[in-house]
Amino acid sequence: MLGRRQFLVAGGAAVGAAALGATSACSPAGGPVPGVFGLGVASGLHSPTEVVLWTRVELANAPGTTTVDWELCDTASLDHVVASGTAPVSAASDGCVKVLVDGLDPDRSYWFRFRSAGTTSTVGRARTLPAAGSSPTSLRLAFAACQSYASGFYGAWRDIAAQDLDAVLFLGDYIYESFPIQLQRRLRDEYLEDADTLERYRQRYRLYRSDPDLQAAHAAHPIVPTWDDHEVANDHDRAFLAEFPERGAAAHQAWFEYMPVWPIDGSRVFRDLRWGDLAQLFVLDCRQYRDEHLGTALLGLLGGTVMSDDLQAVGRTMLGAPQRQWLLDGLASAQQTGVRWKLVGNPVMIAPVRLVDMDTPEMRALDLSLPRHAGLYLGTDSWDGFGWERDLVLGHLRDHSITDVAFLTGDQHTFMAASLSTDFDDPAAPTVAYEYTGGSISSPCGITEELLSGGLERYSTSPPFDFMDIHRNGYGLVELTPDAMSVTFRALDATSPAATPVPSVRFDTLVGDPQPQVTRY
Ligand SMILES: [Fe+2]
Repeated sequence: MLGRRQFLVAGGAAVGAAALGATSACSPAGGPVPGVFGLGVASGLHSPTEVVLWTRVELANAPGTTTVDWELCDTASLDHVVASGTAPVSAASDGCVKVLVDGLDPDRSYWFRFRSAGTTSTVGRARTLPAAGSSPTSLRLAFAACQSYASGFYGAWRDIAAQDLDAVLFLGDYIYESFPIQLQRRLRDEYLEDADTLERYRQRYRLYRSDPDLQAAHAAHPIVPTWDDHEVANDHDRAFLAEFPERGAAAHQAWFEYMPVWPIDGSRVFRDLRWGDLAQLFVLDCRQYRDEHLGTALLGLLGGTVMSDDLQAVGRTMLGAPQRQWLLDGLASAQQTGVRWKLVGNPVMIAPVRLVDMDTPEMRALDLSLPRHAGLYLGTDSWDGFGWERDLVLGHLRDHSITDVAFLTGDQHTFMAASLSTDFDDPAAPTVAYEYTGGSISSPCGITEELLSGGLERYSTSPPFDFMDIHRNGYGLVELTPDAMSVTFRALDATSPAATPVPSVRFDTLVGDPQPQVTRY
């Protein structure tokens, strides 16, 4: 048996009296979570020698249970245990159990399970990262986001579970705390009241995680998750968290309870993971440090915002200064130390979505006070609302000759792909990176997109996108070697329970050239 130690969490901040109540285990479909380990197992990617294991005990079905046993094996047949232990379980963390196992070998899979109350959990697979200084020859990641339970079925997760992957990157909206998305599409029974307390946030996680396809994906692959807005509240920002601190803390606590993520520092979720000199992934938090939402919604509830100087003000931030400096330094360091592919796990789009271009010579002849990048944008909750910081990040890539950078993005409920230049109104500005926006697991695309697209596959945006699919759900698949990167969008109709994703487009990128070759299927 390898040397090891284990740590346990109760899910962040003190829980107080929030115990497992009589209604806590009820799903909208009715009835409690079945069994003892009814929500399955999950693992989190952590380091070259450590993995995070997760499960949840349905305490109502295991009265008197205070501990859970776990074991980790280096074979899928579970015949060789390399680490084992016992972890406490209680209502203080809603029955969620997390274990950090260390002393493991780098760059390999492990298989694990839990036992409690005479019951054994399903088996999950965990992975360690490659050792520092190693040179992996390949890496396969899925990236996904936005899984409104009510709005669709999880065929995308079923497909992810069947893939041969190193990990899954999840880019936010793991739950939807409020009901409006159900007005767009309601195919499954889900809560209609807002989640605004710890117990109601936990309810959402229990409901979503009860889905067998989502459970299968978690059991099959380690996950690297970050959050977006709906884990807390629609379009929230730092000001919201300051105004409603108890609600923010409850939302963050539930996320940490249900995600197989080992806390770094309080509610910090931004982090980086490295696969030797092949790739480094920078996972962003675009929510808890961002400045207050600005912008005049021209189209009312439909969104749409006119660019202004305020939105591009110097110092206006989505990342917050510490996270921004961490990202800038990390990207430069990755380049300097010979890391080939720099991936940014980016919850909201960084490519501009400008629907009406007003930054033209004709318009400037009429009104010299037009702001930079003048025009009507889809919205300003994305990086379009933080122009100064976007320029800073993309300019940093140019200034430090940081190459082979890809943004992997969620939020938009649309498949989109575009090159990123340091100034999208200057045709001579260099292209410094590429963005892949990987659709949504099940959430429908926005009403604005539907109306403005007029059923077309492509907006007439300025600048244009290389690819757009607003109608289908799915996810992105990334395959890396030292010489090339390919991204495939796998799309399906998530309104059908039996639907399976198929490749819709493939982007092939060679080292040193940010512009991929696009192959449509
Ligand atoms: Fe979403």
